[in-house]
Amino acid sequence: MIHRHWLAELKLEGDYIREDVPPGKIASFLAGFAASGYVGANVTVPHKEAAFRAVVRAEPVAAALKAVNTLWLEEGRLAGTNTDVYGFLAHLDESLPDWTARTKMAVVLGAGGAARAVVYGLIERDVGRIVVINRTRTRAEMLAAEIDARVTPAGFAELPQRLRETDLLVNATSLGMTGQPPLDIDLGPLKPSAAVYDIVYAPLETPLLAAARARGHLAVDGLGMLLHQAVPGFERWFGVRPKVTPTLRSLVAADLGARERAR
Ligand code: ATR
Repeated sequence: MIHRHWLAELKLEGDYIREDVPPGKIASFLAGFAASGYVGANVTVPHKEAAFRAVVRAEPVAAALKAVNTLWLEEGRLAGTNTDVYGFLAHLDESLPDWTARTKMAVVLGAGGAARAVVYGLIERDVGRIVVINRTRTRAEMLAAEIDARVTPAGFAELPQRLRETDLLVNATSLGMTGQPPLDIDLGPLKPSAAVYDIVYAPLETPLLAAARARGHLAVDGLGMLLHQAVPGFERWFGVRPKVTPTLRSLVAADLGARERAR
């Protein structure tokens, strides 16, 4: 819907379609990509690591995350990047333009691929302290050890105390997503000036964002990240940098709403 909207808006010939590729077939699918007729692709969970292994050239951000979500061809060979970090930051820049100056400390919930991209983005913007809280503490410890000394791993027991100090709380777990359990945390101790960013976009208004708004915090939803992460790929494939507009946002939000109601 996003890419087709831009193709129509910019009057470009082309299409963006879905391919259903099971995990056992992704390596051969990507090995034959140059002959497929496509100019590029996005890949999503669980294929981002396989896509990283399939490229002959990965941009630095993808090499750091060992995950590729955007592919294109360079002289017939696959190249790739990861636009999740860009999408995360671009939406935050748009929602809270002075966030870097305001954010001395951030709490990230989760330690999977999405959390990794979030932490990488926060470090890129020089956030001084980042606490990664995860159910499986060893995963948080591994992420912290691998990324940067500014990252401190923690378990959920420490959350209330960390919320008091944080300027930005990011949910990068799958909790709160349609079909998953809710993210059951108490925002009571959260610093009043803190912003809350949920990268989950289905449903658009997660219980976390609703609770944050009710307490007067700035709530940043996951849809903006989804829309912005699509920009660099479109530009690569079609040669024009598209814009994330309120019209596009309403279109995708309405579709997400319709899907929720149909459930
Ligand atoms: P992704 O790559 O999309 O981030 P992932 O690697 O499966 O996906 O990570 C999902 C995140 O949500 C993890 O941080 C996971 O915590 P664990 O590392 O302990 O598995 C978190 N998560 C998923 N279900 C959870 C639950 N019921 N309670 C707490 N955390 C949960």
